[in-house]
Amino acid sequence: MAVNMKGKSLISINDLSVEEIWEIFELSSSLKLKVISGEQHHLLKGKTLGMIFSKPSTRTRVSFEVGIYQLGGIGLYFGPGDLQLKRSESVPDTAKVLSRYLSGIMIRTFDHQDVVDLAKYASIPVINGLTDLLHPCQVLSDLFTILEKKRTLKGLKLAYVGDGNNMAHSLLHGCSKVGMNISIASPKDYQPQKQIVDNALKNAKSSGSKVEIVDDPAKAVKDADVIYTDVWASMGQESESEKRKKIFKDYQVNSNLVKHAKEDYIFMHCLPAHRGDEVTDEVADSPNSVIFDEAENRLHVQKAIMALLM
Ligand code: CP
Ligand code: NVA
Repeated sequence: MAVNMKGKSLISINDLSVEEIWEIFELSSSLKLKVISGEQHHLLKGKTLGMIFSKPSTRTRVSFEVGIYQLGGIGLYFGPGDLQLKRSESVPDTAKVLSRYLSGIMIRTFDHQDVVDLAKYASIPVINGLTDLLHPCQVLSDLFTILEKKRTLKGLKLAYVGDGNNMAHSLLHGCSKVGMNISIASPKDYQPQKQIVDNALKNAKSSGSKVEIVDDPAKAVKDADVIYTDVWASMGQESESEKRKKIFKDYQVNSNLVKHAKEDYIFMHCLPAHRGDEVTDEVADSPNSVIFDEAENRLHVQKAIMALLM
């Protein structure tokens, strides 16, 4: 039976039930087919999505704006400094005011708590388009991409090599919800936050997935079906770039490392990539790489998310 997500916000994959995740994938797949066949699908005719960006974006910005348009609605872009938030209007007041005009809000910002508060005080759905802590829309699109490529999720092994950041956190939530095994290799001081690992271990009890945090990339990648990496310095950490390059130098996904994975492994990256740092061109451009299909799926999956919530 279809689950009803109308009016809900999407802040974290950990808040979603397994049924809700599969509902998103089913609708994503049907909306993707409609785009391919050119069939109109105005599920959100006349609706408005406010898009708040305190950080830069290529994929999230374009896929949400094109997505709401294809669904028959319109997106309003608010860049860093556009709203009175920048001049310290409070998050609750902003949430209440925007709720009087819009049908939904997508927000990308630094502090995760701001997104939690926005959703708390808004009377319309709030969608997390990345915080320092989580990137749920990316990982839902990633899982959908893995499903397309591998025809299943349960029992597959995803190896994440690199910083224990927002991507690692949402991958921990996502994989452990759908029954995928996840092995994360990060340097000791850059491993995922304990609270998120605990969430994943708890999910793993019901889904049957294995969750492992190590510091040896070869160990994580051993027999992996999916190899995933992300930048070593995330948005907001630019001043640490040089220091991090040294710390993460053994965490590069290159042709040597991928030898430990299954022969038909797929390579994934949320992008933007710093080619030559966390991944070599050889891997990113190899036949195993699905990075651009992954980027495309942001559009289809976020359209499903908007259609279900708004
Ligand atoms: N992967 C991702 O969120 O990309 P952007 O930063 O370009 O939105
Ligand atoms: N960890 C990266 C992801 C970008 C999509 C960042 O937060 O900058």
